[in-house]
Amino acid sequence: MLIGGVSGVFGSSLVRLIILTVGALVVIFWLFVPSVPSRLSNPFLSHGNEHYDTNNPNQTAALLAEKQNEFWNKLQLVLAGTAPGCPSPVKNGSSGAIGFNAVDPPERTDLIQMPEMDVLKMREAHGGFLNETRTQGLWPPYVPETRGLVYTAGGKYLPVFVASLRMLRRTNSKLPVEVFLKDKSEYEDAICNGVLPGLNAKCVVLSEILGRASGSSSNGTNTAEVQIEHYQLKVFAMLFSSFEDILWLDADCFPLYDPEALFDSEPYKSNGLVAWPDYWASTVSPQYYLIAQVPVPPMNARASSETGEFMISKKTHGLTLILSTYYNYYGPSHYFALLSQGAPGEGDKETFLQAASAAGNKFYAVNEPVGAVGHKTQKGGISGSAMIQYDPVQDFKLRLQHSDQPVFNMNDIPIAERPRVYFIHAHFPKFNPATIFENKVTKPTYKPDGSYGRAWVAPDNTLQRFGRDVEREFWKEIKWMSCTLEDKFKSWQGVENICKRVTDYWEKVFEKSTDPVPQFKFDPA
Ligand SMILES: *[C@@H]1O[C@H](CO)[C@@H](O)[C@H](O)[C@H]1NC(C)=O
Ligand SMILES: *[C@@H]1O[C@H](CO)[C@@H](O)[C@H](O)[C@H]1NC(C)=O
Ligand SMILES: *[C@@H]1O[C@H](CO)[C@@H](O)[C@H](O)[C@H]1NC(C)=O
Ligand SMILES: *[C@@H]1O[C@H](CO)[C@@H](O)[C@H](O)[C@H]1NC(C)=O
Repeated sequence: MLIGGVSGVFGSSLVRLIILTVGALVVIFWLFVPSVPSRLSNPFLSHGNEHYDTNNPNQTAALLAEKQNEFWNKLQLVLAGTAPGCPSPVKNGSSGAIGFNAVDPPERTDLIQMPEMDVLKMREAHGGFLNETRTQGLWPPYVPETRGLVYTAGGKYLPVFVASLRMLRRTNSKLPVEVFLKDKSEYEDAICNGVLPGLNAKCVVLSEILGRASGSSSNGTNTAEVQIEHYQLKVFAMLFSSFEDILWLDADCFPLYDPEALFDSEPYKSNGLVAWPDYWASTVSPQYYLIAQVPVPPMNARASSETGEFMISKKTHGLTLILSTYYNYYGPSHYFALLSQGAPGEGDKETFLQAASAAGNKFYAVNEPVGAVGHKTQKGGISGSAMIQYDPVQDFKLRLQHSDQPVFNMNDIPIAERPRVYFIHAHFPKFNPATIFENKVTKPTYKPDGSYGRAWVAPDNTLQRFGRDVEREFWKEIKWMSCTLEDKFKSWQGVENICKRVTDYWEKVFEKSTDPVPQFKFDPA
C-alpha cells in the first residue's frame, strides 16, 4: 500500500514536472556556478582562512597558531630570497619638514643618489617578492568575521596604553583588543593577567609567535634570526593579529566615539584601508616609484601619513600588509630612506599606503588636515602636546559633496561644516603620570606662571570640534590608573607619589581652578 502510494505519486504528471524542473535547475546550477566549490578550495580567494570553529576558542587558537607558523616560515624564506641586492641608497642631505599644501604644492624632494643599476636591482627584487608571494598564495592568517583593535605597548608605554584603553571603553566600545609586546621581557603579569582581561584586552608576545614558527626559541626571547625592532612592531602586530578587520592605534592614541561604526561605513567598507594625514608633504623619492613600478602621484594628491591610527582589512589587504612587511624588513637598510628622505618621523609610516598602491589595492586617505592642540606661544603659535584626527565618515561625505572641485581644499569649507574630532593622539610628551610633570620641553601641565593648568587650551576652533571636555575625562582615567595600579607597572617601580601627585593636579585643575574652561562646542553667535 505504501509502495503503491509512492509509485502513484510518481505517476502524477504534476510531480514529474516538478522533478524535471528541479533536475534541470540542478544541472543549470552545476553548469553556471562551478566557481562556488572551486572558490572555497582556491587559496587565492579563500586565503586558507576557513575551517575555524569560532564557538570553540581552543580550536580557533590552535588553528590560527598553525596557520601563522606555516605563513611565517614561508614568508621568512621569501623575504630572505628577495633582498634588495645593492648597497643602501645614499642621501645628499635631508628633506626636513615640508608642510603639505594642496593648493600650492611644493616640488617633490629628490635627494637620493643611486646608480641606475641599483635601481634596477631593487626593482627586480621588489617584483620577485610580489611574484613569489602571489605564486605561493601567501596571505596573513586571521579568524574570519572578527574585528578589533591592535596596539603595541611595552615598558613605559604600558601605562600610557592602559589610560588610552580606559578612554576607549568610555565610548562604550566592546571591541576586543590585542596588545602586542616585543618579547617576554615586556610581559607584565599584574597587568596582562590582572587588569586587561577585565577590559576585554589581551597581551600577545610577538617573539613567541615568531620563535614558535621557526622552531627555535620556545622561551620567548628573541633569537638572532628574528630580531624585530621597535619600528617594525606595527606591521608585525597587524600581520599576526587574529582580527580580520583591524583598527590600529598607537598606545598614546584614543577615539572619542565607539569605533565599531567605522567598520560598517564608507570609506572603510569599500576600500578596506583608511589612513590619516601628517602635517608634512609626501617626500617619497622618484626612485621608489621606478622600483615599485607605480606612477608618481602629484604632490597635492595627499599628505604623508600619520599612522597613530589606521584601519586595514586583512581580507582585502593581505598583500598590502605583506609588501609593507618587506618595506619594513628592508626599511633601515633601503626603504625608509627611499620613502621619506629624512622627513620627520622617517620609519614605517610611509610603508602602508605605498604598499597598497604597489599591490594594486584601494585605500582612502582622510583629507581633513591633522590638527594640533596645546598652549599658545608668545608669538601666537601653538606649542602642541596632541595631534587631532577627524571623523573619516564625515570626511568622506564632504569629499563626495565637493567631488567637482579640481583641487579639494578643506580650508575653503567653514569650520562648522567640517568633520568632528575623532581621535586624539597625545604623542608628545606621553601622558604618563610618572614622567609628564617633569617635561621641560612643552610643559603641558603648567601655566606660564609655573602653576598647574590644562594641557589643551588652544586653538579655539579645534577645541570646539571636541564636542565635550575630553581632557577632563582623560585625567579622570589617568587618576584612576595612578591610584589603582600605582604598585603594578614595572616601569613605575621606584617612582614615588604618582597617585598623590595626580590627585593634587586633578583637584587644582579640574575641581578648584577658577581659570576659564575652553568652549568644546560651536558657539553659533
Ligand atoms: C581550552 O583550553 C583550556 C586551557 O588550555 C582548558 O582549560 C579548557 O578546558 C579547554 N576548553 C575546551 C572546551 O577544550
Ligand atoms: C649635494 O647637494 C648640493 C646642493 O644641496 C650640491 O651642491 C652638491 O653638488 C650635491 N652633491 C652631490 C654629490 O651631488
Ligand atoms: C615572476 O614569475 C614568473 C614565473 O615564475 C617569471 O617568469 C618572471 O620572470 C617573474 N618575474 C619577476 C619580476 O621575478
Ligand atoms: C632562550 O633560548 C635561547 C635559545 O635557546 C637561549 O640562548 C636563551 O639563553 C634563553 N633565554 C632564557 C631567558 O632562558
